[in-house]
Amino acid sequence: MRDALSRAFFLALARSATLKAAAGRYGLRGSRGFARRFVGGETLAEALQVVEALGRRGFAHTLNPLGEHAATQAAARQATEECLHVVDRLGAAGLPCRISVKLSQIGLEFDRAGCADNLRRILTAAGRRDGFVRIDMEGSATVSATLDIFEAVWNEGLRNAGVVLQAYLHRTAADLRRVMALGARVRLCKGAYQAPSDVAWQARADVDEAFLRLVRVLLAEGHAPAIATHDRQAIDEACRCAGQRGLGPDQFEFQMLFGVRRDLQAAVRDAGYRVRIYVPFGREWFPYFMRRLAERPANAGFVARSLLQERAAVRRGAGRRRP
Ligand code: FDA
Repeated sequence: MRDALSRAFFLALARSATLKAAAGRYGLRGSRGFARRFVGGETLAEALQVVEALGRRGFAHTLNPLGEHAATQAAARQATEECLHVVDRLGAAGLPCRISVKLSQIGLEFDRAGCADNLRRILTAAGRRDGFVRIDMEGSATVSATLDIFEAVWNEGLRNAGVVLQAYLHRTAADLRRVMALGARVRLCKGAYQAPSDVAWQARADVDEAFLRLVRVLLAEGHAPAIATHDRQAIDEACRCAGQRGLGPDQFEFQMLFGVRRDLQAAVRDAGYRVRIYVPFGREWFPYFMRRLAERPANAGFVARSLLQERAAVRRGAGRRRP
């Protein structure tokens, strides 16, 4: 109950424009900015450095240009251009062209046909670079539209895309069948948004159980399954299932978020599995960051500490400047 309340609290704050503006001043400022732990940087250049460093340490990546809920054609077009730019820069840097995109970023909420066109442009550009685009899944009200657009472009032959499914939704077992029947790749996660009880499991134990059930199905029948979690038990169970089915480490992968459970990321990599790190970057980090707080309210303590340290540093600086 307490879990659900604090989660709802942080997810509600994620929509606050005032808080977003206030946080924006500090979050990525300097090396101490409190959002730096979860965000690969404000610029693409910073994010590319993060990706290169991860690569040197044996991690794969997917780069996410942050942004969601575009409300105008101009904003959706600009987000699309940014994705195209990321694809180009990854290619030019000789890095695998792997990106994650939210459809609400490129027009889903006001122009589905336009959103599909924007997605086609991104997939075509990524295809030229032998790249792959993962379509993130957002709030429960957008799932049907996201899957419909995904299926439409897939059926047109744009096959370098995969989609995310969220285990907390009651509908996901059926959605998983639908996507696997296409032969498309699924990233399975637990789900990060607030969703009502008639569509989603609310209790942590129910979500965990649904996740394990779907992990087993995905590993048994999915194509290049991606298991996105930091849940040690779920990872152990996935390894056990994969072993039982004779799946080699190149036939499935684990995915984790930049800055979350770095110890576990290294342990899973060291055990010989492929680990892909989701690296978000850009100025629109606030809602993403609040979802990370909602998952683990203890992160709020770390934010508070960073802010206090930052204030102390500013005061010390001001003191030094005094004549
Ligand atoms: P769980 O929440 O049970 O946490 C297990 C353990 O992991 C915790 O005990 C804690 O140690 C650690 N942990 C988890 N979250 C943490 C955090 N924020 N900070 C610090 N420690 C934390 N969701 C979605 O709705 N749509 C999407 O497209 C995606 N995409 C996506 C990609 C990738 C690569 C990942 C890893 C996750 C997503 N998610 C997502 C988020 C996902 O739905 C889920 O909210 C988080 O992964 C947290 O759930 P876990 O499975 O990690 O387990």
